[in-house]
Amino acid sequence: MKFIIAEDYDAMSRAAANVIAGYVTSHPDCVLGLATGSTPIGLYGCLVKDYEAGVLSFKDVTSFNLDEYRGLDPQHDQSYRYFMEHNLFSHVDIEADRTHVPDGACPDAQAACAAYEQAIAEAGGLGLQLLGLGHNGHIGFNEPAPDFPKYTHCVTLTESTINANSRLFDSIDDVPREAYTMGIGTIMAAKEILVVASGADKADIVHRAFFGPVTPDVPASVLQFHPNVTVIVDKEAGALC
Ligand code: GLP
Repeated sequence: MKFIIAEDYDAMSRAAANVIAGYVTSHPDCVLGLATGSTPIGLYGCLVKDYEAGVLSFKDVTSFNLDEYRGLDPQHDQSYRYFMEHNLFSHVDIEADRTHVPDGACPDAQAACAAYEQAIAEAGGLGLQLLGLGHNGHIGFNEPAPDFPKYTHCVTLTESTINANSRLFDSIDDVPREAYTMGIGTIMAAKEILVVASGADKADIVHRAFFGPVTPDVPASVLQFHPNVTVIVDKEAGALC
């Protein structure tokens, strides 16, 4: 594992964007696994700048997002599809039909998840997977559980996640209670993994995830077993490491 502590949020974002830009430049037809949340917004901004500067192209890239709320339409302003359109896809030259987000509007959880897992396999598997980190150590929406879930599945969100994400909805009652997410197995099969975390409120979980024991109680800790992981945090998130 490569563990990098950047000076601040902007430096973390630039360093993480460079890893992605480097991967896309050396593998122009790669499969990128993408993430949502507040943390990657800055790095997506850096990638858009690189595209606008003419030094980066996504024209042959395929993307798969980690997760989506169950029950939200792609047009809903808190859906992860909307987030990706707004923060990256509509600003760069990625082909719309090569971008994938689990279908939160599909009520048949088993069908939605199986189709997603199959689409990833048909694309040849994930190349570089970007991850943020939940306060309880979740990656994607893989919450602390008795074991590590293998494939894309439907999860019931924990109170901690619902509370954390309620800041983005009108009221806590509007936060969906379920989501579709890649499994830990899906994520671990990626060739490379890049994790970003920022802010003092992530310091404890960053330390537990990357320097504590590997346990499904802290889903991100499994990344210690991956052969090619880069973790980039800002000083505040890295304060206990
Ligand atoms: C959400 C997403 C995760 C994300 C996490 C942290 O629950 N499902 O993929 O990593 O929140 O988000 P933030 O970066 O806003 O702290």
